[in-house]
Amino acid sequence: MNHSQNIPFLDLVTPHVELEQQLIAVFQQVIRTAGFVGGPMVDGFEKAFATFCETNFSVAVSSGTDALRFAIMACGIKPGDVVVTVPNTFIATTEAISQAGALPEFVDIDERTYNMDPEKLRDCCETQCTTDESGKLISRRSGRPVTAVVPVHLYGQTADMDAILELADRYELVVIEDACQAHGAEYFSRKHNRWMKAGSMGRVAAFSFYPSKNLGACGEAGAATTDDEALAAKIKMLRDHGQAKKYYHDVEGYNGRLDAMQAGFLHTKLKHLPDWNEKRRQHAERYRQLLGKHEGIILPCEPDWSKAAYHLFVIRVADREQLGDALGSAGIGTGIHYPIPLHLQKAYSTLRYKKGDFPVTERVAAEILSLPMFPELTEETQVRIAEQTAACVSRLVTVGS
Ligand SMILES: Cc1ncc(COP(=O)(O)O)c(C=O)c1O
Repeated sequence: MNHSQNIPFLDLVTPHVELEQQLIAVFQQVIRTAGFVGGPMVDGFEKAFATFCETNFSVAVSSGTDALRFAIMACGIKPGDVVVTVPNTFIATTEAISQAGALPEFVDIDERTYNMDPEKLRDCCETQCTTDESGKLISRRSGRPVTAVVPVHLYGQTADMDAILELADRYELVVIEDACQAHGAEYFSRKHNRWMKAGSMGRVAAFSFYPSKNLGACGEAGAATTDDEALAAKIKMLRDHGQAKKYYHDVEGYNGRLDAMQAGFLHTKLKHLPDWNEKRRQHAERYRQLLGKHEGIILPCEPDWSKAAYHLFVIRVADREQLGDALGSAGIGTGIHYPIPLHLQKAYSTLRYKKGDFPVTERVAAEILSLPMFPELTEETQVRIAEQTAACVSRLVTVGS
């Protein structure tokens, strides 16, 4: 790549052009059989994705948001129940909770991993909740029963699941993983003494296959993963108008099925996911080498219990607007994931949180900047990104000091 060329934040063209013939073959197969929704292509992808996630079942649906919403509903979370999650996530996490009829409440994140801080969850259970006569956890904030927790594996790195699962066990909380950004991420469970895949640790998990994800469809798609056959069957009913047998509706469900074409595309792309994730890990390592010693830049922390899938490579700097602008002027795309924590979003003003409630999330949200991260990045482009980043941060550090 020569220096006058722009560097996109994400390249979604190259991988699809490389797989063009295989994707066209999927398209041909679908139009020649007219099996457009559900069917063998969806079944085949579900089996392959469950194998990839090391779970017994995966249920393909029309988006990650639907996967999370159906997962919450299938777990029997009742209207008005509190589901605890983090404010540092995409709004789909809390949309799914609210739209399943539950009430989202937040705990702050760990400043190193940007994911749910198990100590904050412990504090929430021990000091911000009481227990009723049957020992059930009741939120002091809302007076509602707390029945589930949704750790989000943000940016492609899992939350510290052992501690979260242990607390959930103690307080009888259902654990629903939001693995929408974490296809293939791994967690070393000290409890089980082995590496575990994102999506295989909670009772159920949700994945998004939005095109920009590590495994992305050519449109909208998602999946829920679980080891629990009955739960998988409930999610299948919810995605298909509440029916297991055509026109026999046990419950009122939704239209949340996956198109066969998207399943075929995903199945084709899934074969490449381990290689793509490995490339992301190599790029992350190179960013570390290039930027690691630079004053004024905080790099993502990958604890020894984590093998992140690097959906995003998120750095922190004091003045990220200036850095984003400077990189933009140099033709380098960046992103902010996410600029406004959920507890401060207008959409959640009714939850009555205020500035200062989650100081770690708020501090991090003001400083984060996502650098380009995709498998096709080259060493040359990374060097250019790092040079521009380092030069801009040096200028800012000098000005600020
Ligand atoms: C953390 C998180 N949760 C949920 C979702 C929802 O997935 P989808 O866009 O497929 O509905 C996303 C998608 O961006 C996400 O990043």
